[in-house]
Amino acid sequence: MKQRLSAAKALSGNIQLPGDKSISHRAVILNSIAYGSAKISNFAQSDDCKSTIACLQSLGVQIDINEDNTINIQGMAGRGLQGSEDVLDAGNSGTTMRLLTGLLSAQPFLSVITGDKSLRSRPMGRVIQPLKLMGAQISGHDGDSKAPLTIKGGSLKGIRYELPVASAQLKSALLLAGLFAQGDTVIIEPASSRDHTERMLKAMGADIKVDELTISLSPGSLNAVDMEVPGDISSAAFWLVAAAIHPQASLSLRNVGINPTRSGIIDVLQSMGANLTIKNEHEVSGEPVADLHIESSSLAGIEIGGDIIPRLIDEIPIIALAGSMARGKTVIKDAKELRVKESDRISTTAKELSKLGADIEELPDGMVINGGKALSAAECDSYGDHRIAMMLGIAALVSDGEMTIDKAEAADVSYSGFWQDLTRVSSI
Ligand code: S3P
Repeated sequence: MKQRLSAAKALSGNIQLPGDKSISHRAVILNSIAYGSAKISNFAQSDDCKSTIACLQSLGVQIDINEDNTINIQGMAGRGLQGSEDVLDAGNSGTTMRLLTGLLSAQPFLSVITGDKSLRSRPMGRVIQPLKLMGAQISGHDGDSKAPLTIKGGSLKGIRYELPVASAQLKSALLLAGLFAQGDTVIIEPASSRDHTERMLKAMGADIKVDELTISLSPGSLNAVDMEVPGDISSAAFWLVAAAIHPQASLSLRNVGINPTRSGIIDVLQSMGANLTIKNEHEVSGEPVADLHIESSSLAGIEIGGDIIPRLIDEIPIIALAGSMARGKTVIKDAKELRVKESDRISTTAKELSKLGADIEELPDGMVINGGKALSAAECDSYGDHRIAMMLGIAALVSDGEMTIDKAEAADVSYSGFWQDLTRVSSI
């Protein structure tokens, strides 16, 4: 689908965000192996989370999707999953593939899991290697480093493992395997990555301890828990930047998840000088949540690198747009993980923003942006990457002329109502 968009005169209104994608994946996976049944509300209506549901249904889990964004899950009480007769399809979703690979390594049956072209090119060796140390039998393309993966599940033993990258998907895969292993699993992170799995495991009765960057889990069973999923801060990020860079803007976002392992975008926008207010901070289902309000701002460039990167990893394309519109220079470094996301996001972000007239230079692990250049519309491509599609949609709101975004349907991977919301809050 080609999306055509022109600049908006003003941006205003309230946005009801989709449920957090990372939390939704975990809520359905963990409740699928729990004792009892659970109802999840504000479940993410995204293609990625639908892939997770479809895989779990193929493994015998009864999951009902209701019209009101709720789902009901009948837990399989620990070891109740059944082998699927067919290949499991994770679609575009790295979280589905990596978390399920951990889980399936410990199940007494054979599974084959694949995904779309983008996912089949992404690194899976980082998950396979430690799972093999736990005793898993996994093979895959390219020297057991790429999907499709064949997983011959069996008995595992707990390990002590230092993660080579701050990856919540890798950490969560090992924790899921560790639930079924003999002995404890101890994971040491190089920097904090999103901790939704740890929070949820604790809430569901697992024996898990977190001491700064060290996580220890003893094997055991889980109790199903009803949950309300907060609004996705990674989806909120598009509107926060849209309002900050647009000269006539005022947007309100309610019930946004502000878990500190995810809220780097708030820190960055505040350091850039955004008119951002945070109200009504409270907890929902063990996750911190708040209402955010943002207005037109005069942003200044900043340097972003180090431990903040995992806290805003998915927001870097939209931060690059903010940097392009800010005064002065923005430098993003220590973000080489971006090269192995749904697209090579250093290259796709720099390429597409350059087409619009931004002054942006690629670094091996980030980018340098000389801000303050006026943007003009161009024919752009999302490369099938949801976050690039949405970043370009927001860029169109502040660019002169009519923009075309190819493969704009990619937005559905995390935010199915994105283009409708964009039209609704824009006056033209
Ligand atoms: C995710 C973790 C991050 C993030 C991805 C979702 C998760 O990936 O980029 O969009 O739900 O655990 P990595 O763990 O590979 O950094």
